[in-house]
Amino acid sequence: MSFSDKTPTEEDSGSLKKGKKKKKKEDAWTPEGPKDPIAMLDSLPEEKQQEFQRALHLFSLGQVQPKTLQEAKKHTFRFWDTQPVPKLGDSVTTHGPIVEGQACVREEPFSLPQGFSWDTLDLTNTTVLAELCTLLNENYREEDDNTIRHDFSPEYLQWALQPPNWLAQWHCGVRVNGNKKLVGFIAAVPADIHIYETEKRMAQVKFLCVHKKLRLKRMTPVLIRELTRRVNQQGLYQAVYTAGVVLPTPLSTCRYWHRPLNPRKLMDVSYPCLRQNMTLQRALKLNRLPEVTKTPGLRLMTAEDIAGIHSLLQANLHQFHLSPVLSLQEVEHWLLPRENVIDTYVVEGADGTLTGMVSFYSVSYRVLNHLVHTGLRAAHLLYIVSTATDVTVLMEDTLVLAKAKGFDVFTALDVMENKSFLEKLRFTISDDSLHYYLYNWMCPNISPEKVGLVLSN
Ligand SMILES: CC(C)(COP(=O)(O)OP(=O)(O)OC[C@H]1O[C@@H](n2cnc3c(N)ncnc32)[C@H](O)[C@@H]1OP(=O)(O)O)[C@@H](O)C(=O)NCCC(=O)NCCS
Repeated sequence: MSFSDKTPTEEDSGSLKKGKKKKKKEDAWTPEGPKDPIAMLDSLPEEKQQEFQRALHLFSLGQVQPKTLQEAKKHTFRFWDTQPVPKLGDSVTTHGPIVEGQACVREEPFSLPQGFSWDTLDLTNTTVLAELCTLLNENYREEDDNTIRHDFSPEYLQWALQPPNWLAQWHCGVRVNGNKKLVGFIAAVPADIHIYETEKRMAQVKFLCVHKKLRLKRMTPVLIRELTRRVNQQGLYQAVYTAGVVLPTPLSTCRYWHRPLNPRKLMDVSYPCLRQNMTLQRALKLNRLPEVTKTPGLRLMTAEDIAGIHSLLQANLHQFHLSPVLSLQEVEHWLLPRENVIDTYVVEGADGTLTGMVSFYSVSYRVLNHLVHTGLRAAHLLYIVSTATDVTVLMEDTLVLAKAKGFDVFTALDVMENKSFLEKLRFTISDDSLHYYLYNWMCPNISPEKVGLVLSN
């Protein structure tokens, strides 16, 4: 069984007899014989299924997504090679769209295999929002060794998916017809993006997720094509997105850095940011933080700070090659503090003007099968700007504040000026990269310190 994985031109050319015949064959959810491994897996008790999935993961059976450029160069991108994205290995020197926007956009949704339907999720409905939480919390981790899971809250998803001008039709779900279970999701939110000398309204793609039992069946290309169609319907033809895997073709490749705030707990749950041979005493000593903050005038952001932060941020973000162009409403939405979602602090100078700001969003995890710990909280750095004092001091203060708020680890990307403080403040580099991509836009590669965009997922 598999989802249709054809190019839009094949899909669209209903008049081509050959294409039509092939469509029927590929689109059908072909009944499985008794040897089908997924059907066999499905027929087992849940506990056994989990064991098999763990084993599959351990032995890396199945198709492995490339994590490095070298691996990607050997991989055949059946889907991505049909898309308007630069080819791997191309050195791009020009700027502009890869294909021009079509005058007419396909009206009917892309076809799903029999037994599945599209559902535009109404996230203002608490039941639907809860269903999305369940899908993501149970399936939004690529590798599942059953020790740690995402714990997205409804409030977090509303923040991430309903910024100013959000569109319901960009919250695109796939359900099983029989029981209405949500098994696939992809979303986008509109954003004005500054890329080199151009400013473009585009879609910021988020939360691509396929239920674990439906993996490797080519649902992803169908989700991406359908979202692209819905974005095109709004007259937009570009998108920005990030992924941990290498696809054609990264615009920039950044690394995650982690700073332990609660080394004892991180060690207990084997969170991969402490050196394995380090003793607890040493980890505690190395990661000790001051009791109080040092920056004068540092305080929590309030609604009165929106305009001040807006000018501070826009002046700062414009120096990067890739950055958001935020409206006042977007500053309010993305930065005004919301409990367990987003924290923002400002630095107020003696004359009342803002000279700095820092914001971080909150990512929660559930710790499974542990005798003591049930959850873990990570703070992710969004933006930090300091015009009057050393940014390292403001960042150290941020660590102090995050620790006081009960976060266990602080995570930052090596984007913007972050490299200037990461090592000094005992962040350690992780093995994980985050690749930035643009859909239907080509421009030269960007080094991490020229990236001024952080996409919260
Ligand atoms: C990412 C995920 C949706 C991929 O699903 P899958 O079942 O492994 O893949 P499918 O068979 O549906 O589709 C495969 C195609 O999707 C592409 N793909 C895989 N991961 C992708 C990603 N993160 N972004 C875009 N495309 C992706 C593959 O490259 C492949 O296309 P190709 O033939 O051109 O190489 C799934 O693994 C998942 O839900 N993971 C957990 C959440 C997650 O990591 N989401 C991505 C956040 S960026």
